[in-house]
Amino acid sequence: MAFIIRPMRQEDLPQVNEIDHEAFPTLWPPPNYQRELDNGLAHYIVACDDEIEYQPPKDTPQRGLSGLIARMKPLSNHRKPSNNEVPPKAREYIYGFTGLWLMAGEAHITNIAVREKHRRQGMGELLLISLIDLAIELGAKLVTLEVRASNIDAQSLYAKYGFVEVGLRRGYYSDNREDGVLMTIEDVTSSPVQANLRRLKQAHAQRWEMTAHIIAL
Ligand SMILES: CC(C)(COP(=O)(O)OP(=O)(O)OC[C@H]1O[C@@H](n2cnc3c(N)ncnc32)[C@H](O)[C@@H]1OP(=O)(O)O)[C@@H](O)C(=O)NCCC(=O)NCCS
Repeated sequence: MAFIIRPMRQEDLPQVNEIDHEAFPTLWPPPNYQRELDNGLAHYIVACDDEIEYQPPKDTPQRGLSGLIARMKPLSNHRKPSNNEVPPKAREYIYGFTGLWLMAGEAHITNIAVREKHRRQGMGELLLISLIDLAIELGAKLVTLEVRASNIDAQSLYAKYGFVEVGLRRGYYSDNREDGVLMTIEDVTSSPVQANLRRLKQAHAQRWEMTAHIIAL
């Protein structure tokens, strides 16, 4: 299967919010991804397929101002397109996303999430591989993150990619005061880390027969 990995864009936000809500239902307030897109330190990517058109769920009408604008659109769309106008591109289907903040040579992974129905199919790994590559490209020496103490699935994904537990932040998560486990890849450009990443990438490509078309990250 072929996927596209590309920077997150404004038009992705409805899907990104949907995936975020499914992945982190207790997080309130939810992250403001519009602000993240405007933040020069933040870098977000999505894994998507441009051959599948995104269909918003029927039972969740958009709320607030964006919902009002969406409902008003049919009224303002009565102008017929002229013959040489290119029709707007259908919105690509997003499987998952991830992001980091880059500060003083440190890449801090803010989150990673895959739609529930596409989990356990190598998508989380594809995103993490792409994000680590992006961190290196941006000049990071260290990659770090916090993960809930109870989130064994994510911890095992990070451990597979060479993240090592280096500390515990007590009561880090505001919703239930759960501890955050601090995990780090210390020297991401070192030869042993790079060799391990190459091996993991090869194993991932062979196992899932997945190719990713990466668009200027
Ligand atoms: C964590 C998450 C992104 C993983 O995505 P995914 O597409 O299912 O992951 P993959 O299929 O690429 O799995 C890669 C590795 O992750 C680990 N993993 C993922 N799901 C797991 C599970 N249910 N049980 C145990 N290990 C799991 C394994 O190490 C796995 O490697 P393996 O297949 O060799 O065992 C996904 O479960 C998710 O979106 N969770 C909700 C959001 C979240 O908790 N994010 C982390 C915040 S810190």
